Order: sequence, then structure tokens, then C-alpha cells
Amino acid sequence: MAIEIRQLHPSFVGEVSGVDITRPLGRADVAAIEGGMDRYAVLVFRDQRLTDEQQLAFSRNFGELEFTRGTGISKPGELRLDPAFADVSNLDTNNRPLARDNRRRLYSLGNRLWHSDSSFKAIPATYSLLSGRIVSEKGGETEFADMRSAYDALDVATKAQIEDLVCEHSLLYSRELLGFDLTAEERATMQPVRQRLVRAHPASGRKSLYLASHIGSIIGWPMPEARAFIRDLMEHATQPQFVYAHKWRPWDLVMWDNRQTMHRVRRYDESKPRDMRRTTVGGTEMTVAQAA
Ligand SMILES: [Fe+2]
Repeated sequence: MAIEIRQLHPSFVGEVSGVDITRPLGRADVAAIEGGMDRYAVLVFRDQRLTDEQQLAFSRNFGELEFTRGTGISKPGELRLDPAFADVSNLDTNNRPLARDNRRRLYSLGNRLWHSDSSFKAIPATYSLLSGRIVSEKGGETEFADMRSAYDALDVATKAQIEDLVCEHSLLYSRELLGFDLTAEERATMQPVRQRLVRAHPASGRKSLYLASHIGSIIGWPMPEARAFIRDLMEHATQPQFVYAHKWRPWDLVMWDNRQTMHRVRRYDESKPRDMRRTTVGGTEMTVAQAA
């Protein structure tokens, strides 16, 4: 059975059928999925009952995986999952929902802000793959915004103004937005990195806005002007016409290109378990040279 992709939104997002991703894939299938990612930026695979091992194997078809250890606030003994996973559940190591004042829960509320995964790393991620093992019945949608269409819709003068701008990204800035208190030790692990504001996709050459709540400054700009401008761009880029909301069904796997999209999770009932497991494919190059 050949892979088919049905577009779910006028500008991006495809639903993939004709492939069982729990099994090893042939090169043609991998190429078809990569082609789909280049074109749609987000792909939805329904009813994929993945084990952790199978999710890792499927993800590795697309490059080396990123490890979450060393980013964020979790310590090695506190991990529920293999460190190759980003645990975006609301569960503790006993698979019980985290208490309201749990520090890991409060930290993870950063996922409610629009962002691109790992934009705070000098070499940021390409793909993220999120498997919905236990999903919320109400709320908990993941929303995606198409940063290519958002770029295309800018006026000519703004495109010219932003073409060579470089922003600083750090988890410090997104957590600061929420008023989350980081320790001095945590802050020391979150040194800002530089990223171009406009990226061109390596396959299509199509330009996109590289935005995230992790942005705290624009190199060479006064801080208040930079933050006001980034806020304007974020509002522009997340207008309804650029956004797709994914309503999760159990065993959906959603794969997105962090270079071409932003995403955020919506509010849900946190008294009930929500088990979502993310693998992340690392990038291969910086978007711009880092400060010496
Ligand atoms: Fe994310």
C-alpha cells in the first residue's frame, strides 16, 4: 500500500495513510514522509500503537535524536521515560498527575506559549514527533502555526527589514514571561543562543519566520523595541488563518518541522492523566554563527 497524504488545512498539515510506522520502513517510505514534511510541515499519523522502542526507531529514520538531559529543570532521577524522550505528560514517576504546585508542572506550562522546540539550542531541532498515548477528552489540543505563510503575508518593507536580523533565544525568556523562578544553577545552563529570524528551508528554499517565546532580544536593537517588535510578529504569525488545531485521538503521532512552524498546547483537565511522549530529531547546523 502506497503512502497517501490528505491536506487538512489550506496552507499546511497533511494526514498520512497507507503506512504502519510501528514497523521498519523502507527507503521509499522514508523519502515519501520527508517529502510530505517539506511540503506540509506537519504530518498526522492515525492509530499508530507505538512502543517507546518503536517510536525511537521510527524517529531515527530522519536523523540523530536530541536528548533532553541538560535542558530544562529535570534531574536524572526524576525522569519517567528514557532520556531520549521529552516527557510532555502531566505525570510523575508513578504515573500519577502532578500536583498543582509541582515545580516540573509549572515549568512545563511554558508549552502553552507559542514556540519552536529547541530554538534555545545553538543547533536547533528539525523534527519533533509526539505520540499521544493517553489524550485529554476535552482541551489539550496542540495548535500549529505555519511560519511560511506568515512570512509570505508580510509586506515588502517588513521582509526587507527582518531579512538579516538575529535574535537571542533562551528558556530564561519564555519562563520569565510566566514569572517562573529559576535557580541560579538553572539559569547558568540557559545561556542565550543566536538564531536568524528568517530561515530558508533547505529543500524548498521557502522562507519562514523563526519565532518562539524563547526570544528575548534582537542583536543590535534596544531591548524594549526588540520585544515590542517580536510581540507584533508573534501576533501576526498566529492569526487564525495560519493556525491548525490538532484534536488528539489516542495513538495519534504528529510530526512537525520546527524550522517551518510554531506550536503550543491548549489548556486541559490536569486532574486526569495525559501521557504524551516526544522524540526530537536534532539539526545539523547553526542558523547563524554564535557570539565568540
Ligand atoms: Fe514544544
